[in-house]
Amino acid sequence: MYVFDREAYEKRMQWFKDARFGMFIHWGLYAIPARGEWVRSIEEMPREDYMKYFEEFNPVDYDPAAWAKAAKDAGMKYVVMTAKHHDGFCLFDSQYTDFKSTNTTCGRDFVAEFVKAVRAEGLKVGLYFSLLDWYHEDYPHFGDLHHPMRNHPEYSNENRDFNRYLTYMHNQVREICTNYGKLDILWFDFSYGDMQGEKWKATELIRMVRELQPGVIIDNRLEVDGTGMGSLAEGNPLPYHGDFVTPEQMIPPEGIRDVDGRDMYWEACITMNGNWGYCAADHYFKPASMLIRKLVECVSKGGNMILNVGPDARGNIPEESIRILKEIGGWMAKNGRSIYGCGRTGLKRPELGRITGNGESLFYHLYENSIGPVALKEIRREDVKAIRYLATGAEIPISANWTHRSYPDILFADLGPDPHLPDATDTVLEIIMK
Ligand code: GLC
Repeated sequence: MYVFDREAYEKRMQWFKDARFGMFIHWGLYAIPARGEWVRSIEEMPREDYMKYFEEFNPVDYDPAAWAKAAKDAGMKYVVMTAKHHDGFCLFDSQYTDFKSTNTTCGRDFVAEFVKAVRAEGLKVGLYFSLLDWYHEDYPHFGDLHHPMRNHPEYSNENRDFNRYLTYMHNQVREICTNYGKLDILWFDFSYGDMQGEKWKATELIRMVRELQPGVIIDNRLEVDGTGMGSLAEGNPLPYHGDFVTPEQMIPPEGIRDVDGRDMYWEACITMNGNWGYCAADHYFKPASMLIRKLVECVSKGGNMILNVGPDARGNIPEESIRILKEIGGWMAKNGRSIYGCGRTGLKRPELGRITGNGESLFYHLYENSIGPVALKEIRREDVKAIRYLATGAEIPISANWTHRSYPDILFADLGPDPHLPDATDTVLEIIMK
């Protein structure tokens, strides 16, 4: 009988809550076709057609130190990279397959270099590991929901031994939990239909993971896909319960609480454009200003945001992504204290922006200016020690203007005569509480 230890759980989650902002990296052979990481499945590409990318892959520009620095400079506190995606290609030196990066032209263990570079920047490190494997002969082919050969009867599952696949998969998880130092996050992906939980022998898998990596935090996709919450949220934690919920390409409207109303840890995983893996034709990048406000939204609702980059086949993060990361980093450098270690405040969302808090200060994120002094609703004047612009530390006077004399119970901040906010994306007022 599994006994959930909430104290130990809260202890291992603390850094995740403090971090709030991470980088996701989806990279692999699919960067060559450059049509996203599901290209094999979407185009129902036979394995032999995909193997030309394995023969060709030689990312001469791969520089994980540059990736780690880009994440650090963007204000991100952790980085999660695909060790193996659904195509089954291992970015690490697995002894259980030849379909791995050390057998490509460049002969490098990408994961070994990645974890070293990320730790060198003082960031937490995570590995994404696909539960699906479209390369392995023992993984279901015909009739599976997602396999590239799902519609091809000639790929029957007659001689496939799923238990043999599970042994392979568990062995590889053991490898990444053994050979690459302390991992901070294991990001499994994903359960679907009856392929969930004990179908993956999840209890045995997680027992092994927790023995090898006692401090690691694990997502909820051994239990669910990107839409479900998992057993912890349902108040009935299974031995392989996710430590955090993983809403994908959306932000939960009210954040996420468990069945008892307790705030869950959650992380919205979001792409910069519309693809996780590199997609040459996808130039629909979200502007930095939007992503900054989405990060604020996640934190204001008690969650994290992990923002994805999809490096190209040479190993470079796309220029559009670099530009966005730099702009986000500029804002985070001045306003990060309104993100790190912050969360819900219990106050209603202000009409001119959002509000985050860390128990000592409230951070009022202003997206538009008001006419006249800014009303700081639900905040009692006698509880406020001072108000400052977070970015500069400059004092913001409490307003005594006659124009709001009819509202004596509402606190107003006097931002002065300039109708333009110092930061059009998000001007943060720090309300320092007594
Ligand atoms: C979805 C995508 C997968 C991606 C994951 C990231 O599961 O199918 O390709 O790795 O989201 O959250």
